[in-house]
Amino acid sequence: ARTVTRTEEGSVSVSGLDVRALAEEFGTPAYFLDESDFRARCRAWHEAFGGAADVFYAGKAFLSRAIVRWLHEEGLNLDVCSGGELTTALAAGMPAERIAFHGNNKTAEEIHRAIEAGVGRIVLDSFQEIVRVAHIAQELGKRQPVQIRVTVGVEAHTHEFIATAHEDQKFGIGLAGGQAAEAVRRVLKLDGLELIGIHSHIGSQIFDMAGFEVSARRVVQLLAEVRDEHGVELPEIDLGGGLGIAYTSDDDPCEPREIATSLTSIVTRECRAAGLAVPRISVEPGRAIVGPTAFTLYEVGTVKELDGLRTYVSVDGGMSDNIRTALYDAEYSVSLVSRSSSAEPMLVRVVGKHCESGDIVVRDAFLPADIASGDLIAVPATGAYCRSMASNYNHALRPPVVAVNDGSARVIVRRETEEDLLRLDVG
Ligand code: LLP
Repeated sequence: ARTVTRTEEGSVSVSGLDVRALAEEFGTPAYFLDESDFRARCRAWHEAFGGAADVFYAGKAFLSRAIVRWLHEEGLNLDVCSGGELTTALAAGMPAERIAFHGNNKTAEEIHRAIEAGVGRIVLDSFQEIVRVAHIAQELGKRQPVQIRVTVGVEAHTHEFIATAHEDQKFGIGLAGGQAAEAVRRVLKLDGLELIGIHSHIGSQIFDMAGFEVSARRVVQLLAEVRDEHGVELPEIDLGGGLGIAYTSDDDPCEPREIATSLTSIVTRECRAAGLAVPRISVEPGRAIVGPTAFTLYEVGTVKELDGLRTYVSVDGGMSDNIRTALYDAEYSVSLVSRSSSAEPMLVRVVGKHCESGDIVVRDAFLPADIASGDLIAVPATGAYCRSMASNYNHALRPPVVAVNDGSARVIVRRETEEDLLRLDVG
């Protein structure tokens, strides 16, 4: 967060709050999320397109009622991909027409609930789902706006993208072999569905716009085919999420404005070439909005030096509050925040307290050589896919999310308690 400073005693303060006081009040491990940074990022995305696009925050990155209220207040829309996310969105007052419903295997009950609530769009992911959604909409006497999710044969992750016929994955309907064109044909025939556009999501933690360029070109190509075959110009194109953030100083993410300019110009150019009116664009950033806004605060429990091998610094959380290192070999940084130290930096591995050796928080980290039990350390950029993918492994209690803003802090998701664990256990 941008409001991080050192106090006179050497500890770190966030938005005017000393991390030692935060640890005292809220305990560790805990996620601290900078509300003003979150709101500023929402505004930056909203304004980047100058009103010419709709921004759907991807709720899977992190969702709570407070987050939904902030999104609503900042003019963003919301992408949900489960009944649980839909319930949270509606419970916190997000207008249904500003919700997009995703997923490759939505249940009939979820679809029913979404249509009944009046969600703005359902993103269709398979031929079976086309029929299922149309049927439920008709039962409810509604005509449901939908997009078709296509796979454009582009896979983009981090610094690379591959544009091949890579279609072997569970999401969407392939452009290759005329599958997507067939999906359009079927949707257009069904009274319960109103086809508003085509959707494409190409990957995650992307820094290079080249993958989006190929994706946009192929989606526009499909729009042109649809016009030629059916005489209709679909009004929307959704280019998904996946924009990267800086986890370490090696990462160099693009600003929303650069991304907006680039996406808008690609779509405009391709549409002009195909003689199409430029459709309304939508995007679905999750990580790029919430990721950088939070850090995890841990307390060091033990420091174990294995002679000539490595030093393990164990913290009071681990893979239950951040599975990303174990799951994706993700890289993070870490800093000593409860005091300053003039000791030499030492290469360590920061690990959790779970019962397996893959329970690593930061694989290779530099911490002062005098790092000791009781020190507080912070791992930045844990706002996305950490709390939302947290587990109760080893009956860990999932940590709270504390919103800090302008010198005050308040819990927006409370820490789990042992009663919470026992409550589910009915045997
Ligand atoms: N839209 C769709 C259709 C998606 O599938 C996703 C992410 C997003 C938007 C948002 O992507 P973002 O802008 O947050 O990258 N658990 C993984 C990430 C999985 C992302 C799945 N889909 C991680 O921790 O890196």
